[in-house]
Amino acid sequence: MKFFRIFLISSIFLFDNSYTINDIVIREKYANWKRKILRTSPGSQNSTIFLPSNTSEGFLNFKKSLMDISKQNIKFLTGRSQFQMKLNIQASSSDAAKNIRNGFNPPKTSENPSLSTSDSFDYQDITYLPPSLDYRDFGLVTEVRDQGYTCGSCYAFSANCALEGQVAKYYGKLTALSEQNIVDCSTSYGNKGCDYGYMEAAFKYAKFNPGLANGTTYPYYGIDNQCQYTPQMLSAEISAYTFVPKDENILKQALVDVGPLSIAIKADLNSIYYYTGGIYDDDNCRGTVNHAVCLVGYGTDNTTTPPTDYWIIKNSWSNDWGENGFMKMKMGTNLCGITNYVIYPNI
Ligand SMILES: *[C@@H]1O[C@H](CO)[C@@H](O)[C@H](O)[C@H]1NC(C)=O
Ligand SMILES: *[C@@H]1O[C@H](CO)[C@@H](O)[C@H](O)[C@H]1NC(C)=O
Ligand SMILES: *[C@@H]1O[C@H](CO)[C@@H](O)[C@H](O)[C@H]1NC(C)=O
Ligand SMILES: *[C@@H]1O[C@H](CO)[C@@H](O)[C@H](O)[C@H]1NC(C)=O
Repeated sequence: MKFFRIFLISSIFLFDNSYTINDIVIREKYANWKRKILRTSPGSQNSTIFLPSNTSEGFLNFKKSLMDISKQNIKFLTGRSQFQMKLNIQASSSDAAKNIRNGFNPPKTSENPSLSTSDSFDYQDITYLPPSLDYRDFGLVTEVRDQGYTCGSCYAFSANCALEGQVAKYYGKLTALSEQNIVDCSTSYGNKGCDYGYMEAAFKYAKFNPGLANGTTYPYYGIDNQCQYTPQMLSAEISAYTFVPKDENILKQALVDVGPLSIAIKADLNSIYYYTGGIYDDDNCRGTVNHAVCLVGYGTDNTTTPPTDYWIIKNSWSNDWGENGFMKMKMGTNLCGITNYVIYPNI
């Protein structure tokens, strides 16, 4: 067994070196990958966003993706990291194209203002924290959706995830709300449709509109459109929204107390784009948060020494990404800026 493992690892190293020595192997992989993408996603050949093109830029992007993935998967196999990566449809896309979906961009003044003690809530009261929590098990989390590759609407998906959780918690009815409603109609509160936006503006819109439509009456197209909302579409309302202080312990208390929380992370890294499972622990993920997601739980992997605590995050990049659309992220060092912008609606 041990021999097999060493053999396996060394053959991967050889394989890896052959990439660097010889582009022929990568060219062949690139050709195979393009064939697969065209077969599974017809239409992608016409899209400059995916760029599964024959250009040298596409090839160089693909090569970089492949190297990053292979390096990470070796780290995983040798026990130096806990997550894995895989190629996906964006493997030959430019960094700019991959970044389009990362549309979280609040004005400086909105960035999770440090909360004074005069603010009305105190999570220190939450003294019982279960060892693990997964709101998917409590019927508070809807199906993972797909924002598409060409719309920076992550902020709308993130806001709705938190609101769907509150509606389910208080009314016992889990309904997917409308992201297109937010994309089309919250521009006067500071959002920029498919370009970018932030959750506080989405909640302001939901508060003063008042209300939001559900995803059935106001479906998602992933493009900028005129606002179609009419009062007959009303499906969920909010009365206020609340920021959570920047601290992972308080974040845990708030999650237990409230339900799914709307958060933002840094996501413009290949290790995020190609993440496919395990506990994400890339220490390079530090800096400005630019992608809105949703916090739905936490847990501990006690098969590692010492055990690894992690968060459970819901993304809006379809079921194909991560663990059926979700991600586990290592807890404890504010990885990817997970506490930097946390907000939830009060219904
Ligand atoms: C891609 O573009 C070609 C030429 O413009 C067109 O004939 C074809 O139908 C397009 N394919 C898809 C799937 O949109
Ligand atoms: C790219 O190359 C493939 C075969 O290598 C060819 O079928 C396809 O038409 C080329 N696409 C473009 C946009 O040149
Ligand atoms: C969506 O909202 C409409 C009202 O516009 C309502 O009739 C319908 O039942 C709602 N659908 C779900 C799944 O909640
Ligand atoms: C690991 O966690 C599981 C589930 O929480 C528990 O049943 C098990 O006893 C734990 N194992 C160890 C070694 O702590």
